[in-house]
Amino acid sequence: QKCIAIFALLCCFAVLVALIFSSVDIWGDDEDGITEDNCSRDCIVLVENIPDDLFLPVTGRTHLPLSAGFHTLLDQAKHSVEVVSPVWDLNSWDLETMPSTAKQGQLLFQRLLNLKSRGVKLKIASSLTNSAELKTLAAHAEVHFVNMTALTRGGLHSSFIIVDRKHIYIGSADMDWRSLSKRKELGVVVYNCSCLALDFHRVFSFYWQLHERDYIPSIWSKRVTALYGKNDALELQLNASHATVYTSPEVLCPKDRTRDVEAIYQVVQSAKTFIFISVTDYLPLVNRRFRGTSVTYWSPIDEVIREAVVLRGVRVRLLISFWKKTHPLTFNFATSLKSLCMQLHNCSLEVRFFSHREQNDDIQHGLNHNKYMVTDNALYINHDWVGSDFAVNAGVGLVVQMNNSLKDRGATILEHVKAAFERDWRSRYAKSLQGSKDHQGKYRNLQQVKIHTETKE
Ligand SMILES: *[C@@H]1O[C@H](CO)[C@@H](O)[C@H](O)[C@H]1NC(C)=O
Ligand SMILES: *[C@@H]1O[C@H](CO)[C@@H](O)[C@H](O)[C@H]1NC(C)=O
Ligand SMILES: *[C@@H]1O[C@H](CO)[C@@H](O)[C@H](O)[C@H]1NC(C)=O
Ligand SMILES: *[C@@H]1O[C@H](CO)[C@@H](O)[C@H](O)[C@H]1NC(C)=O
Ligand SMILES: *[C@@H]1O[C@H](CO)[C@@H](O)[C@H](O)[C@H]1NC(C)=O
Ligand SMILES: *[C@@H]1O[C@H](CO)[C@@H](O)[C@H](O)[C@H]1NC(C)=O
Repeated sequence: QKCIAIFALLCCFAVLVALIFSSVDIWGDDEDGITEDNCSRDCIVLVENIPDDLFLPVTGRTHLPLSAGFHTLLDQAKHSVEVVSPVWDLNSWDLETMPSTAKQGQLLFQRLLNLKSRGVKLKIASSLTNSAELKTLAAHAEVHFVNMTALTRGGLHSSFIIVDRKHIYIGSADMDWRSLSKRKELGVVVYNCSCLALDFHRVFSFYWQLHERDYIPSIWSKRVTALYGKNDALELQLNASHATVYTSPEVLCPKDRTRDVEAIYQVVQSAKTFIFISVTDYLPLVNRRFRGTSVTYWSPIDEVIREAVVLRGVRVRLLISFWKKTHPLTFNFATSLKSLCMQLHNCSLEVRFFSHREQNDDIQHGLNHNKYMVTDNALYINHDWVGSDFAVNAGVGLVVQMNNSLKDRGATILEHVKAAFERDWRSRYAKSLQGSKDHQGKYRNLQQVKIHTETKE
């Protein structure tokens, strides 16, 4: 009887061990000897793509062209380049048929292909199933497929590049030739900052380990958990600023990683005088495709703005792109926000729409693809303010927060981004939402555009 008992115990133990090991099957890979204790924390640069025919005065001081930023970044690569992008379309145009506009995309594609010959490992995580470009790259790179359909019924919408676990790019530009020519993009490149890069690498490892899985494991290796969270942000040597990496949606946040929407709360709530927001889309709705489609109202982003404007007297400016995919309800939500300040003193909320010619083609010509928020003490980059993006699509956001307010310091990344926002806000392309007549007109035009594109599809 004792024997049987011991045998049963042993069996239980074995099963337990097997269970534990089967769930702890997510290991991050090697981190190149850089550890939390000896990673470095230097220097951040603003990069922008401004299409040639947009008339926006650019001051050299604040502006590094995006393509130059990408090339400088890839020049630094000695060991590894890790890329996450929702779109892969650098190379899909013939130079013959397309004018020089597509050339930057092809150059970047060639650079990526050539990394292997320089002994640099290229790793790509993507949720795209049938991208011809990724198939071409697969011969020169390791490509891991993340089945976002199975995991959240969303897409992998994060967009960032990590080079040698030291340098990072994060911003609105995708691996898309449009990003390097026709679309207006904004992002940051961070050089020599292995602390932040290591944290981004952990997000990447997380995606990497989801390769062809159809469930999200419940236990994670330390190698994918967050290094810096909301409450213990990374101290950067950037004039007393700190930085944090956030991810969404919630199910894709391993231990200690703070959700993207909390980043927005934190940044909005710590703003004292102003909040400038530039996004491609603003829509507090969640659209789920699961046994039919259901749309629900998703209040968090709307709520924080209302609170800041009405209760704390913070000045808010919202610059939204007006393009063929602008959801008609955007105007209603924007008008609703605007009307908050009616007959209130010390209340300022302005909304403008950025539009350039007819953007009703595939090229997204002149589309303001920016996604950021800048306040008197923080920068938050890279999320559209759309409920679905927070609820089902995977995204990554970066917050750079200054200890003191802007006016106490010299030229910082916040000032550069603020200058870029003010340039766009005052440009001829930013049109305010005036009176109901104009609004109706725009709305009708938009409806036509929508009908037009729907019939085209
Ligand atoms: C960081 O520390 C690890 C061991 O603690 C060491 O192997 C590595 O070379 C160090 N890296 C740098 C850049 O100093
Ligand atoms: C992704 O997961 C879904 C649902 O589990 C499955 O139907 C689909 O075939 C998977 N896609 C790929 C490319 O494996
Ligand atoms: C990064 O740091 C190294 C050594 O500190 C320096 O040589 C290099 O120029 C820096 N790179 C950039 C892009 O700032
Ligand atoms: C900046 O603020 C953080 C906490 O918000 C604090 O820990 C840190 O000491 C401050 N740094 C400087 C240089 O004031
Ligand atoms: C609102 O009032 C506060 C002081 O109560 C002031 O600092 C702030 O500038 C005012 N905001 C606006 C938008 O007038
Ligand atoms: C820090 O502030 C000084 C002036 O106060 C400025 O010259 C310098 O460029 C700033 N550094 C960074 C990295 O922003």
